[in-house]
Amino acid sequence: MKVGIITVSDKGSKGEREDLSGKAIREIVKAESYGYIVVPDEMDKISNALIEFIDKKGCDLVITTGGTGLSPRDVTPEATKNVIDREIPGLAEAMRMESYKIKKTALLSRAVCGSRGKSLVVNLPGSPKAVKECLAIISPVISHALEVLEKGSVECGKIV
Ligand code: MTE
Repeated sequence: MKVGIITVSDKGSKGEREDLSGKAIREIVKAESYGYIVVPDEMDKISNALIEFIDKKGCDLVITTGGTGLSPRDVTPEATKNVIDREIPGLAEAMRMESYKIKKTALLSRAVCGSRGKSLVVNLPGSPKAVKECLAIISPVISHALEVLEKGSVECGKIV
């Protein structure tokens, strides 16, 4: 599996903040190879990075971290909606619902998940803690999602 990691952060893109969230994703999500970029909170930069990782580098899974909240600069969900073909609302809903039990402000994340062609795109909030919590919530279904996207159809009966 090829994984793309996009850290969305104005400060991170200027080298003013260490990217612990991108690092956390890399530690948790095991892959054959990784693409990695830090971009500012700008719609075109985020959309372009998603397209580059999916269409040019052939990433199966692209995970963004940051920019999902309510600050005026938070545009990751909009940039993601611009490039995905289909939304997978259940992934984002589960992250919000389960994260809410840990931290109430999880409801303020507008994270979007979806597919572009055979690739899966997942928005995560910006903190390393949120990254770890959210990945734990959705990881049980990620490989199945990737398999269905790749093969077109898969026997679901044995999946818990
Ligand atoms: N989700 C989990 N699991 N754990 C968290 O600590 N933080 C929330 C939320 N989601 C959080 C979480 C907070 S404080 C915010 S503001 C939103 O994600 C949006 O974060 P972002 O703007 O960094 O993407």
